[in-house]
Amino acid sequence: MSNWLQKDRSHVWHPFTQVQTALDPLLITHAKDAVLYAEDGKEYIDCNSSWWVNVHGHGNEHIVSAIAEQVAQLDHVIFAGVTHPKAIELAARVSDLLPDALEKVFFSDNGSTAVEVALKMAFQFWHNQDKPKHRVLALDGAYHGDTFGAMSVGQRDYFNAPFEYFFFDVDYLDFPNENNKSKLLAQAEMLFATGEFAAFIVEPLIQGSAGMRMYEADWLDALVRIARKYDVLVIFDEVMTAWGRTGELFAMDYCEEKPDIVCLSKGLTGGVLPLGLTVATNAIHAAFLSNEVAKGFLHGHSFTGNPIACASACASLDIFEKEETWSNITRINKFLREKKKLFESHSQIESVRMLGTIFAVELKTGEGNTYFSGIRDQAYQFFIENGLLMRPLGNVIFLNPPYCITNEQMEKAFQKILELADGLTAHNSSI
Ligand SMILES: Cc1ncc(COP(=O)(O)O)c(C=O)c1O
Repeated sequence: MSNWLQKDRSHVWHPFTQVQTALDPLLITHAKDAVLYAEDGKEYIDCNSSWWVNVHGHGNEHIVSAIAEQVAQLDHVIFAGVTHPKAIELAARVSDLLPDALEKVFFSDNGSTAVEVALKMAFQFWHNQDKPKHRVLALDGAYHGDTFGAMSVGQRDYFNAPFEYFFFDVDYLDFPNENNKSKLLAQAEMLFATGEFAAFIVEPLIQGSAGMRMYEADWLDALVRIARKYDVLVIFDEVMTAWGRTGELFAMDYCEEKPDIVCLSKGLTGGVLPLGLTVATNAIHAAFLSNEVAKGFLHGHSFTGNPIACASACASLDIFEKEETWSNITRINKFLREKKKLFESHSQIESVRMLGTIFAVELKTGEGNTYFSGIRDQAYQFFIENGLLMRPLGNVIFLNPPYCITNEQMEKAFQKILELADGLTAHNSSI
């Protein structure tokens, strides 16, 4: 074991890991474009954009020089009572890209805090108007992050069971499908009609952590219209779906109805530095304006509006203005569509889902779609041995690569997914 790994074992507590049984982590020393380089000389294709964040690939020169310039200019400054050009530029550019009404940008540090801020804004919006509402609607299978508010509105399962006692009450709608769509809308209407709901929160069109589960924009539009009818605020958690992932800049671009609040993070900085944004409408913001200090949104973090992260995000927006980025997104989409046809007919694949640059196959394991599928660790290790960093969600194997990934790199990933599925066929037929 290298000295680094020994020190890692001694001192580092890794996320989402059962340390006792986990294998040694990969020791990555550098990265370029879609490739991660390990200390032992091995190379790995970063098939999931390093936790779905690294949209433009690693070491992007435009982002690297924007960060270097900014750190020399202004590294960090308190953001209460102080502002700076990069935060202003970023807020103005993001609100220009979003629908007109979404104009007020609140800064935080990551996806969970962006969600936490959205929920606090929604509760305080009603509180400030002396119309307190305490209920929230979410979707079954949701994942919105790991802080307490974000966990409260997420799926209640093994991950957050030790904390469930502390969560606020949330009502859940089943995940929509062809058979239950209308029933769910009727159920939402009954709930919203109580007048007790402050907000509903969704991952628009795709639930990421639930296994890249996808649903239709018109169903979400119908749900948003019902929420509007009963004065329920609509929060879109676009932490995973934004920044070209779905083939459009935002998932909401597929919807007719737009949210009152949107949460952004992950690819916001090109996936290079941590940053979260919660963008609200002017109407929401107006409910916080008062001569009473306590009616303001009294929330913040030490690194709120960090100038280096803002510079990285502005540089990432520059890259989205380039034709090349969108032609890469189109190229990846075309490649994935071809693969979809091939995989759909495979006997060991339960379903294939794709949208934009996201492709997911659900393997038949006899256990259904579950994060704790026995195949998960086996598949992860198989991909590592074959030079692919691909982190399955249980029995769901998926790609959401950086947009600079080449067709050859994707081809390699697909060959190995196919080999894995073929192996299941052999295994299952021998039982
Ligand atoms: C939809 C969604 N919301 C929120 C989060 C939490 O983001 P973070 O891990 O940056 O706290 C995630 C993370 O995967 C996510 O997919």
